[in-house]
Amino acid sequence: MEVKTVYKKVNPGSPDWETLKEAGNVIRSGGLVAFPTETVYGLGANALDPDAASKIYTAKGRPADNPLIVHIAELEQIYNLAEDVTVPALRVMEAFWPGPLTVILPKKPVIPDQVTGGLKNVAVRMPNHPVALGIIRAAGVPVAAPSANSSGKPSPTVAEHVSEDLNGKIDMIVDGGPCQVGLESTVLDLTADPPVILRPGAITREDLEGVLGHVAEASSCKETLDAETAPKAPGMKYRHYSPEAPVIVVTGEDPNKIFEKIMELIQTYTLQNKKIGLLVPGESIAAYPSDFKYEIGTRENPETVARNLFHGLRWLDSQGVDLIIAEGYQETGVGRAVMNRLSKAAREIIEA
Ligand code: TXA
Ligand code: MG
Repeated sequence: MEVKTVYKKVNPGSPDWETLKEAGNVIRSGGLVAFPTETVYGLGANALDPDAASKIYTAKGRPADNPLIVHIAELEQIYNLAEDVTVPALRVMEAFWPGPLTVILPKKPVIPDQVTGGLKNVAVRMPNHPVALGIIRAAGVPVAAPSANSSGKPSPTVAEHVSEDLNGKIDMIVDGGPCQVGLESTVLDLTADPPVILRPGAITREDLEGVLGHVAEASSCKETLDAETAPKAPGMKYRHYSPEAPVIVVTGEDPNKIFEKIMELIQTYTLQNKKIGLLVPGESIAAYPSDFKYEIGTRENPETVARNLFHGLRWLDSQGVDLIIAEGYQETGVGRAVMNRLSKAAREIIEA
C-alpha cells in the first residue's frame, strides 16, 4: 500500500519546532517517521502502540523476531520501561547518554511484545541529536526505532538513503543532514553478569569497562576473519548491511600487503570483465587503478572510516559495480565496530 511520504528538511543544530511537533504528532497517532540520530537514521513509531510497532516490520520487511530499540529523551523515562535499574546500570547510562549506547534490561509490561519480538527484555537508548530528542519530546511517548533501511541493506546515514528504501511506505522523513557516527549504537546487555556487548559500536569495550569493570563480548561481535571458515559460518547465509554487489574484504596487519592483495584481485576480476568498486582509505586510494573508488576516510582516524562506511557501500552500488573490494582495519577502538559491520556485509573475507 503506497502512502504519501511527507519530506521536511530541518537545521540539525536548531530544528524548527513546528516540524518536530508535526513529526511527534504523527508518531503519537500511530504513524511512522524517519529521523536522524547521531548514529544512523531511525524509523520511529509509538513504542507503547503494538499496531504502530507492527507497521515498522512491514515497512522494512524485517523478520518479526528481531526486536526494536526504544528511544527516550529523559533518563527518568527508563523507570517507566524497565525493571532492575541497578546502580551500575544507572552509572553507565549517566556516563554515555545521550549517546551511541543501547542498554538491555528486563521490560515492564507496558512494552508490547511487538517491540521486543516476544523477549522479556527491552533495549533502550537516548540518542545524542537535537532532532531525535526534539521529536521524542514532541511525541510525548517513548519511540521504537530501528535503523530506517529496508531489511538487509546498509543503515542510512543521510535522508536520501531513507527515501531510496522507504519512500511511499512511511508517513514522514525528517532530513537533518548526515549522521556523525555513521554506525549503529553499541548494544550492551545489562541482564547478564558481567554485562555483554551484543553489538560493538562507537562506545567501545574499554569505554564501558572504565565505568563497569569487566565487560564481556558476544562471540558474534568478532566475526571469524578466517577466509577458510568465514563463508561457512551460519550467519553468512543472511544478508546484512549488504549492497547489491557482493563485497570482498581484505584484512591483515600490514596495509602494504592488503594493497598488494587487492591489486592482484583487481587483475583477476578485470580479466573477467568485472566492473570493480573500491572502498579504500585516503592513504592508498590514489595508487589504485579503478574508475569507481570511494574514499572511506583515513587509517589515522578510524572515526572517519566508521562515518563513511555505509555511505560508501551505497554509493558504489549506485555506480552499478559488479563487486566491491574493501580494505580491512585494525580492530582497536571503533575499528572493532567497523570490522564487525564489514565482515557481516562481506561475501568473502581474505587475509592478506
Ligand atoms: O544506533 C542505533 O542503535 C540505531 C538508531 C536508529 O538508534 N538503531 C538501530 O536499530 O540500529 P536496529 O533495529 O537496526 O538494531 C537493533 C539491534 C538489533 O541487533 C536487535 O536484535 C538488538 O538491537 N535488540 C533490540 N532489542 C533487543 C533485546 N531486547 N534483546 C537483545 N537484542 C535486542
Ligand atoms: Mg538495523
